[in-house]
Amino acid sequence: MELIYAPDNSSLGQMAARWVAREILLCPNLVLGLPTGSTPIGMYHYLTRLTQEGIISFNQTRTFNLDEYVGLTADHPQSYAFFMREHFWSKVDLRKRNMDIPRGAVSNLAAECLRYDDAIQRAGGIGVQILGLGPNGHIGFNEPSHNMEIHTHVVDLSAETIQANTRFFPDSGAVPRQAITMGVGSIMRAQKILLLVSGESKRDILTKTFYGPVSTEVPSSILQLHGDLTVLTDIKLLK
Ligand code: GLP
Repeated sequence: MELIYAPDNSSLGQMAARWVAREILLCPNLVLGLPTGSTPIGMYHYLTRLTQEGIISFNQTRTFNLDEYVGLTADHPQSYAFFMREHFWSKVDLRKRNMDIPRGAVSNLAAECLRYDDAIQRAGGIGVQILGLGPNGHIGFNEPSHNMEIHTHVVDLSAETIQANTRFFPDSGAVPRQAITMGVGSIMRAQKILLLVSGESKRDILTKTFYGPVSTEVPSSILQLHGDLTVLTDIKLLK
């Protein structure tokens, strides 16, 4: 694991964008796994700038998002599809047919999970996966549990996650109770992973992720077993 410190949140966004830009330059037809949440917003901003300045192009890149809320259509302002359009998809030269995200509002969610895994597999698997870190250690929406799901699946969101994500909704009652998420298998099979962690409130879970035991109760701790992981954080760990 390579640990890179960023002096603050804004630098973290810039450093993450440069890290991703290098990967795109080296491999323009990269298959890129993408996160949502507050943490990657700066990265999307700087990637947009690098694209608009003609330094990189997503013209040949394929992207797969980690997750989506069940029940929200792509035009719902709190859906992750809407987030991606607003922060990234509409700003760069990514081709529409090359961007994918689980569809949370379809009637057959099981079929959607199969479609998603199949699409990732047909693309050759994820080359570079970018991740954020949930306050309870979730990656994508893989929540603390007794077992780890390998494939894309529907998950019941934990009370802690609903609470954490209430800030994006009018009230906690409006937060969907379920999501579709890429499984731990697709994430761990990625050739490279970049984990972004920002803010003091994540200190405890970041410490547990890398200095605690590998446990399904802290899903992010599985990342200890990945062979090519970079952690970019503005939290100084003393250990
Ligand atoms: C959400 C997403 C995760 C994300 C996490 C952290 O629940 N499903 O993929 O990593 O939140 O978000 P933030 O960066 O806002 O702390």
